[in-house]
Amino acid sequence: MSVGVAAEVKSKLSVVEVVGETVALKKAGTTYKGLCPFHGEKTPSFTVSPSRQSYHCFGCGAHGDAIRFLMENQGLPFMDAVRDLAQRAGVTVPEGDAGPEELARAAEQREKRQTLTDVLARAGEHYKAALKSTPRAVDYLKRRGLTGEIAARFGLGYAPAGWRSLAGVFARYDDPLLAEAGLVIVQGESDEQKRYDRFRDRIMFPIRSVRGEIIGFGGRVIDEGEPKYLNSPETPLFVKGRELYGLYEARSALREAGYALVVEGYMDVVALAQAGLGQAVATLGTACTAEHVAKLFRFTDHVVFSFDGDTAGRRAAGRALEAALPHASDLRSVRFLFLPAEHDPDTFVREHGAAAFEQQVAAAVPLSRMLLQTAQDGCDLALPEGRARMLAQARPMVDLLPAGALRQQVMAEVARCGGTSSEQLAALWQPASPPRAGKPAQAGSTPTRRTALARNAATLLDRAVWLLLQRCDLWERIGADDHERMAAQAAPYGSFFALLDRCVHDQGALSRSGLVDWLRQAASGDAELAALLDRSAALHDLDDGVDALDDLRRVLLRLQLEQVNSERSLLVGAGQLAGDELVRFNELGRRHSELSAALTGSDPQPGQRPAGRL
Ligand code: CTP
Ligand code: MN
Repeated sequence: MSVGVAAEVKSKLSVVEVVGETVALKKAGTTYKGLCPFHGEKTPSFTVSPSRQSYHCFGCGAHGDAIRFLMENQGLPFMDAVRDLAQRAGVTVPEGDAGPEELARAAEQREKRQTLTDVLARAGEHYKAALKSTPRAVDYLKRRGLTGEIAARFGLGYAPAGWRSLAGVFARYDDPLLAEAGLVIVQGESDEQKRYDRFRDRIMFPIRSVRGEIIGFGGRVIDEGEPKYLNSPETPLFVKGRELYGLYEARSALREAGYALVVEGYMDVVALAQAGLGQAVATLGTACTAEHVAKLFRFTDHVVFSFDGDTAGRRAAGRALEAALPHASDLRSVRFLFLPAEHDPDTFVREHGAAAFEQQVAAAVPLSRMLLQTAQDGCDLALPEGRARMLAQARPMVDLLPAGALRQQVMAEVARCGGTSSEQLAALWQPASPPRAGKPAQAGSTPTRRTALARNAATLLDRAVWLLLQRCDLWERIGADDHERMAAQAAPYGSFFALLDRCVHDQGALSRSGLVDWLRQAASGDAELAALLDRSAALHDLDDGVDALDDLRRVLLRLQLEQVNSERSLLVGAGQLAGDELVRFNELGRRHSELSAALTGSDPQPGQRPAGRL
């Protein structure tokens, strides 16, 4: 419904005008130039083109139209950005089927996010200023080898020692927002509430979103004290399992280095950046999640985890392995680096230098080896029992790998190591087939039906590929959930969508042939993906007047529907359902109705289907 409005808004407002509100632009020939708001820079590499109605940064690759700019710069969801612009352009936005209450709630939430962001930004400024005027804190950072420049890049600060230093910053210290932002702690019941600053006498590390807004803080005691680190609590803005410290600051270094380095601590990230290794990020005192890994793979194809060489480090590596497996497609690499037991990245790089650290990176253990080592834990491979145990331990990990060449290779290794052949292992690991007690499998779940479902999915995926190759700008118009879902598809589709995601991120909207060239290059070595590209590029162009976004959205819905169907038929095939399986089955039923409802209306016209094998 918003597509028409979005187009109308864009035709009425110039991107130069919209960007110009927050960025000082200077005319340079046919375009405008300014300092990029998405990464710190001193010479302008950010251009705005009135003829293309888009902006592009040659420094960090930020790219998009007026709507995209508002989304990125102010952190608005797509529809909010459209509404904002529509208001300025005097275009009315049909409100669809959302009731007035729902709209009010959405507006309120938006405002709240904005005010929390403001509060955190002001606190961040306060901490930064306090650092400048506290020699003891500056000395501490200097002793840890940091320069003023690095401290400024990471926005490091100092929370003064008093109980209420923030009272001097905010007009109302009892504003509930301060507590909600995690800056002030409230104790006691309503009448005798005590309030005080959470962070006192600590070095402050602002945690930023990918957009650069502060979403939380980590605070370290100066020298000794407990707890050594104190972090902001989770807030609507700050979800620890999702955020990576230093990702915003690392964006351009990730591109230059070609890989991301995942470490454990704030100081590790900052010290590595100081040593010239700006591609480091850290999880926030939590184990690495699959969501963290997915986020990193939006910026790079190669991730190296660095762990301390002690037992805790080994354990953390196991968790990271599990989080990484689902994302380890054929074109990506995940490796594990174990530092000598007495070191963390900070002390290592300070003692041995960046070159020595890079040697450690070069010698990092690939995911396949890590999987094999983990599977062998506690197994005596000289005995049949040991080998059988190893196979059992390997299976859940192999199951997490996406289908593709890497998975095949890993299975071959596992088989070899377990003293069996790939074929035997494949047979051993066949999904448990005999139906349980009494009930025969139903027609809906016969193998042929299942293959048919898989074939339907492939047809839909081919269509999505075909649409997106011609209109890669559409990728940015669908949701993050869809991005994740598409990147998780079996090979070669998953790799295609993951690469596309990166391409759109890095290169902006390319033409069909530019895009195909870029993808071919990036996919070199992946024969399946290359074949997919060839096949798709050979198909005819989109007809004029086709609503490609609508088409893509339908394809995505139908794909979800296929997946629901296939999971349902697997469940039914397993025989009588009880407990969790029954719950899941019912849940799938509900999802099925929702998706079908969303799909009502006609399917893409047969005449608009690409010729060929679709
Ligand atoms: N951490 C935390 N809370 C703690 C201790 C640690 O959240 N009480 C998290 C922090 O993100 C910290 C990371 O775990 O950066 C690693 O902790 P640790 O190894 O103890 O500290 P270092 O990063 O080595 O810190 P430093 O070098 O400053 O001593
Ligand atoms: Mn340390």
